[in-house]
Amino acid sequence: MTSFLQIADDEKGHELDLFCVPRHYENDLDRVIIPHGLIMDRTERLARDIIRDMGGHHIVALCVLKGGYKFFADLLDYIKALNQNSDKSVPLTVDFIRVKSYCNDKSTNNVKVIGGDELSSLAGKNVLIVEDIVETGRTMQTLLSLLNECNPKMVKVASLLVKRTPRSSGYRPDYIGFEVPDAFLVGYALDYNEYFRDLSHICILNEQAREKYRV
Ligand code: IMP
Ligand code: MG
Repeated sequence: MTSFLQIADDEKGHELDLFCVPRHYENDLDRVIIPHGLIMDRTERLARDIIRDMGGHHIVALCVLKGGYKFFADLLDYIKALNQNSDKSVPLTVDFIRVKSYCNDKSTNNVKVIGGDELSSLAGKNVLIVEDIVETGRTMQTLLSLLNECNPKMVKVASLLVKRTPRSSGYRPDYIGFEVPDAFLVGYALDYNEYFRDLSHICILNEQAREKYRV
């Protein structure tokens, strides 16, 4: 069983005023649900778990842009720290793809993969897919079926967040930072129509902001 830190449905989070939040977002957010420091502490432990399971062989870390970029960068920093401070180490290379499936606050059925090296270069490699959040699981299932056609040696998925939602297909990543309530979350590179990536903490968007930034 994959372990994760559970954020309960009735989790009240923390008042915005207790943290540093950009002025331009002050009226758009209700509460801080996961402070940046807690994200970092949990990510450090995920790095250790990943190296324990995948550390025998060259790892290709595949970042799912744009939402995954913060988690990817911080997770890889922790993996690098393990690599340079222990007797055993593994080469780590990186690649970046874009997957787009969202419009406003709704997941759509149409999942598009854009960019990245030829997927055929993943043959025989240990691939670690790094994603921000799994909601229905459709994005990840689509990506996994594409990757598996390239015959990698191993594919694991690390997602910072997994949403508890009746819309879930049942798909669960191999490594999960936090399991979160069925709300729309922003910050730490998670966006709402491209806004809020420039916010360090993970917060719940308020109703007013959903309208303000709607496209
Ligand atoms: P899925 O295909 O439904 O699992 O959706 C996954 C993608 O939807 C993620 O990679 C995110 O880009 C986006 N997403 C889902 N929930 C949220 C959220 O609460 N905030 C921001 N993006 C989200
Ligand atoms: Mg994403």
